[in-house]
Amino acid sequence: MLLRFRRIRRCQFLQLMTTCLVLSVVMVCWEQLNTNVVSHIKSYSYRYLINQFMDINKSFTIPREEARRFSDFHYLLDHPDKCTGQDVLLLLFVKSSPNNIERRHAIRSTWGNEAYIQKSLGVTVKVLFALGAPFTNKDKPMWSDTSELGFQKQLIFEDQLYGDIIQQDFLDTFHNLTLKLIMQFHWMHSRCAHARFLMTADDDIFVHMPNLVSYLQDVSNRGVTQFWIGRVHRGAPPIRRKDSKYYMSFDMYRWISYPDYTAGAGYVISSDVADKVYQATLTMNASLYIDDVFMGICANAIGVTPQDHFFFSGEGKALYHPCIYDKMMTSHGHVEDIHGLWKAATHPQVKRGSSGVFGRLYCTAVKMALLCKPYYLNTYPCKAAFL
Ligand SMILES: *[C@@H]1O[C@H](CO)[C@@H](O)[C@H](O)[C@H]1NC(C)=O
Ligand SMILES: *[C@@H]1O[C@H](CO)[C@@H](O)[C@H](O)[C@H]1NC(C)=O
Ligand SMILES: *[C@@H]1O[C@H](CO)[C@@H](O)[C@H](O)[C@H]1NC(C)=O
Repeated sequence: MLLRFRRIRRCQFLQLMTTCLVLSVVMVCWEQLNTNVVSHIKSYSYRYLINQFMDINKSFTIPREEARRFSDFHYLLDHPDKCTGQDVLLLLFVKSSPNNIERRHAIRSTWGNEAYIQKSLGVTVKVLFALGAPFTNKDKPMWSDTSELGFQKQLIFEDQLYGDIIQQDFLDTFHNLTLKLIMQFHWMHSRCAHARFLMTADDDIFVHMPNLVSYLQDVSNRGVTQFWIGRVHRGAPPIRRKDSKYYMSFDMYRWISYPDYTAGAGYVISSDVADKVYQATLTMNASLYIDDVFMGICANAIGVTPQDHFFFSGEGKALYHPCIYDKMMTSHGHVEDIHGLWKAATHPQVKRGSSGVFGRLYCTAVKMALLCKPYYLNTYPCKAAFL
């Protein structure tokens, strides 16, 4: 009797302990997953409605004459013949700001080197830097000659050397990023409409160009249209805190979730989508200044939905390992390490080490160990291990 009682007690005790353990794990993970769970759950369930049924575009559609002010800027630097007479696989715009000259140099000498791409990958990729007009921030002098004119002179000089800057005369500020996006679509439409893909990326991104090129060649050979790929934000809620960089007023956007869109760090669309988005921008109110959300609204209007690619990063950074390099497309947040990463990620040993049955098995195991954690990692998702 006493024995049975004890056994039951022990059993119950074990159950209680397990429950507690599970609960605490859930609570810890929950916290990690999200700080404002409620707004996310709400907006996530709402996204289905947003993506399928709501005419968000109605509230953003304005007369053509009024929409013109979002694209009616003059080119300060331009290269109208950049694409002429060439079979361009990818037109890649890097959103850069006037003072980020070091980042542009790093990109030109690593993944964005057009001559290298042509020679070793056998395709034409055009890498252009999208800039607005420089402005001086009185708190942070950037160069010795800190006047607007001084900045512009340096940019003209840089562009004479490299011939890869596209610049219009709107101020290059965070809140003008949507104008920069519109500039890219308009530039492609009038000067490079025959490029098969358009990519837009931040200037602190790393692009694994060989992987991206072979992937896009494959997509192109399959004749895929309506193509939009990157790291997808599904049912993201607008941020209503006034102190946030991404603050969104109700006047500007009144729904509780954004349509699906890809993180602005880097995404690719096919030329048919680029053309439709261009058409949409002609009648859109582009005062919504978060450029990737604005892209989502345009795409929603024309009926294009984004697809996730597990090796495109959003905010996250790739982990340093050859098995990751084997599959990576983009990784965000690289400035100092870009040369080292470029060398390591494109080393012939990377492909050799991950080929064959054993190489693939080994790499799957490594990727699982690196990416599949019970807590949130700001890098590629666990699913990427099985790609
Ligand atoms: C955007 O650029 C325009 C044109 O240069 C300028 O008038 C405006 O102040 C800029 N907006 C922001 C928010 O910086
Ligand atoms: C565009 O949107 C802004 C912000 O919501 C609004 O203030 C402005 O009146 C709109 N423009 C037009 C032409 O409707
Ligand atoms: C807005 O979306 C609706 C429904 O998807 C579509 O019928 C309409 O043509 C779109 N309007 C514009 C201006 O794109």
